[in-house]
Amino acid sequence: MAATPKDVPKKIDNLREKIRHHEYLYYVLDQPEISDAEFDKLMRQLKDLEAEHPDLVTNDSPTQRVGGKPREGFVKVPHSSPMLSLDNTYNEEELRAWERRVHELSGRKDVDYVCELKLDGMSLALIYEDGKLIRGITRGDGSIGEDVTLNVRTVRSVPLSVPKEKLKKAGVPPDFEVRGELLMPLAAFKKMNEDRESKGLSLFANPRNATAGTVRQLESRVTAERRLDYFSYMLLQNGRTYFDRHSKTLDALDAAGFKVNPSRKLVHNIDEAWEFIRQWEEKRESLPYEIDGIVIKVDRTALQDELGFTGKAPRWAIAYKYAARAGITKLEDIRVQVGRTGKLTPVAMMAPVLIGGTTVRNATLHNMDEIDRLGVKIGDWVQVERGGDVIPKVTKVIEDKDHPRGTCTFEMPEKCPVCGTKVVRTEGEVDYRCVNANCPAKLRETILHFASRGVLNIDGMGEALVIQLTERGLVKDVADIYKLTKKDLLSLERFADKSAQNIVDEIERSKKLPLERVIYGLGIRFVGERTAQFLAEHFGSMEALERASQEELQDVNEVGPRIAESIVEFFSIAANRRLIERLREAGLSLTGQKKQRGTKLAGKTFVLTGTLAHLTRDEAKKMIEDAGGKVTGSVSKKTDYVVAGADAGSKLDKAKELGVRVIDEQEMKRIL
Ligand code: IVH
Repeated sequence: MAATPKDVPKKIDNLREKIRHHEYLYYVLDQPEISDAEFDKLMRQLKDLEAEHPDLVTNDSPTQRVGGKPREGFVKVPHSSPMLSLDNTYNEEELRAWERRVHELSGRKDVDYVCELKLDGMSLALIYEDGKLIRGITRGDGSIGEDVTLNVRTVRSVPLSVPKEKLKKAGVPPDFEVRGELLMPLAAFKKMNEDRESKGLSLFANPRNATAGTVRQLESRVTAERRLDYFSYMLLQNGRTYFDRHSKTLDALDAAGFKVNPSRKLVHNIDEAWEFIRQWEEKRESLPYEIDGIVIKVDRTALQDELGFTGKAPRWAIAYKYAARAGITKLEDIRVQVGRTGKLTPVAMMAPVLIGGTTVRNATLHNMDEIDRLGVKIGDWVQVERGGDVIPKVTKVIEDKDHPRGTCTFEMPEKCPVCGTKVVRTEGEVDYRCVNANCPAKLRETILHFASRGVLNIDGMGEALVIQLTERGLVKDVADIYKLTKKDLLSLERFADKSAQNIVDEIERSKKLPLERVIYGLGIRFVGERTAQFLAEHFGSMEALERASQEELQDVNEVGPRIAESIVEFFSIAANRRLIERLREAGLSLTGQKKQRGTKLAGKTFVLTGTLAHLTRDEAKKMIEDAGGKVTGSVSKKTDYVVAGADAGSKLDKAKELGVRVIDEQEMKRIL
């Protein structure tokens, strides 16, 4: 029975409550109680109800996390009180000296401290009014930060609102400010860089830079995808610490539903703090995010106030920094690696050096620009750093009397080191590339990509196996994988009956994976995981994708001229078309679920501008696309409609100038 208008608000409220609870279990406590599918179902129900009753949509509804772009870039806003940084210590002696100072200045020795992990992200302030998140502000220069609210709202561990009763129970006032650390977990960082690599984009050096880059994205949809996380560690009211002890602050934040790092400890002296520091030195390797030290804070707020601060850092807290996982070693050679897209990467070959328990022999030098920036020569002594899950990299050249400079300048080879084809550097691009489609290095990397976890997921088909398969000529393209027999595998080194059978089973299993994986696996330039998904949904089969024209391709979500051209080029090559034919013959599923799209708006192009009253940009976009229309970013003569919301700017002017039809949200819904 359809819901009567009277019980709709209640129904919506209940759904929101449920969703918030499951978001909390999943994103804050990391203990989900329902499956993703069940969660999606609840979300779908709420979205449908809200679509039917747009007047009931509220800003703190779980459906409203992603919401377009800030209109004028990021606005600068002042902080309620300065966002301080921390002084650092690097050894036990310095730490004890800090404790002595605390004793001297406070005139007492019985001081409690709280030890916390020093999370390697960026600090961020969240402002709540009447329990609702109204603003997220970056640290900026400490006094003035940038308003990044739209992006912060996409972070699932940040509550969009906290119910009154919950605040009351936690002892938190309705208007308050939370400060904490925004970070990118290592898995998300890895995935993001892999995705960027497959699209030929530059990579982020570490999760901290990636976090900063992500929170300053103009498109909140992009931020939402990158899965940032947020840990809270301060609670303020009117710029002042609210509770009388820091340990109480953390417990109250916890009780109010904020994510507080569980690895924290209230200690009674520096000996105990030192113990905590020692413990985490090793344990930090097992964390799913990076930390660069431990923060020790005086527990009592009154004592904190008494101690005050110097310059930009409080006297009541100190950071103990773990030695950066870096080592110094001799650069013996620079070799060039050829990637899947033909990109040439210079790799430092070094005398083995132990860094954070791992022996490092190779490190990336990224590209020729980086080599120039470092001014590195073969024979130099270099500093190498290794972060959590990240490829080691050379960070500087060491030069002193014990470490004389090398003399051999590195130059990019003119020919591909693997196949000998002339190397090309396109005007304006940083990278050099081998453009030979049959380069064996490309083949190896292509096979590795095809078999990797996020693609056809053929477990066991790693580098060692792929090198053997390609060198022996058993695999000359990805379709050859499906011809491999147990006998072939047994003829290779280190293969026994069971391991060979496992690979055969894995290969067989991979045939059932959906169309988007195969599209992604083909390694078409600029076609990453997400684009592959959109292509599969749009065309529903490899055959239709193969036949698509450049224009048709540009009808697909997020596909612009550059990607479309690359796809057309890929399929224009007969060898690629044959490859797909062979994949089909091998039994791969090259058809998928075509997402049903309406035809009502087929061929119509829309531009969205300003703030719509009831729909987010993404929702409006989705509605138009579901009806077969296309949404683009700029107004031209080809635009059919400009949908203008409040405070529409230059796009609206342009529409008027070109005589493009301007409609509002209501009218858009009517047309739909
Ligand atoms: S407290 C006045 N606690 O480290 C106290 N900071 O190097 C200010 N950080 O800007 C911060 N984990 O971004 C605090 N558990 C933690 C932290 C932490 C990471 C960051 C924070 C700060 C920087 C100072």
